[in-house]
Amino acid sequence: MNLAQLVHATRSCRRFREDEPVSSETLHRLIDLARLSGSAKNLQPLKYLVACTPEKNAAIFPHLGWAGYLPEWPGPAAGERPAAYIVCLLDTEIAAEAACDLGIASQNILLGATEIGLAGCRIASISGKLHQAINLPDQLQILLVIALGRPREEVCIEEAGTNDDIRYWRTPDRVHHVPKRRLADIIIEG
Ligand SMILES: Cc1cc2nc3c(=O)[nH]c(=O)nc-3n(C[C@H](O)[C@H](O)[C@H](O)COP(=O)(O)O)c2cc1C
Repeated sequence: MNLAQLVHATRSCRRFREDEPVSSETLHRLIDLARLSGSAKNLQPLKYLVACTPEKNAAIFPHLGWAGYLPEWPGPAAGERPAAYIVCLLDTEIAAEAACDLGIASQNILLGATEIGLAGCRIASISGKLHQAINLPDQLQILLVIALGRPREEVCIEEAGTNDDIRYWRTPDRVHHVPKRRLADIIIEG
């Protein structure tokens, strides 16, 4: 895959082959891609916690909110849940925020996952109880959870219509459709 193909293929996936494990070595290799990403003032305040066992995964899953535009869908069913997670953390002793760093780092992780046949989803809808559930020290703030696994759904990009509706939808063939605004609609002519 060239870069354009990789970017195109890197879609948010929310249904996985839960029985296909993702090793901690694989997760560490993905975090190594995040480690090399740009960082404001080169402070590198992001830290990562990995989970890839049924016990650890079960501690994380109930604290996540899935697909807000599909309110009738309670999230992935047992058997289709993520096989692994990378919890992205801010070390508040290093920086007070890291929003831009987080975007770059998480995209590196997701691009790397796609390259090796995995898929993932950033989850920012996280219950405040996750911090305690995974026994984190106070100085580490949870910013994002990246759910990962072998994909069990197809995700398809659509062109957003002129009615400005950017909500994704699903069809009965298990395809998840994601509207993207047209290039001409996001470039402002100076
Ligand atoms: C910062 C951020 C937070 C997100 N949080 C959630 C979330 O809490 N739950 C979820 O199901 N998807 C979440 N997503 C995934 C978006 O819904 C997804 O990126 C969007 O629908 C576009 O699909 P795509 O990633 O395939 O382009 C998040 C994405 C980003 C970038």
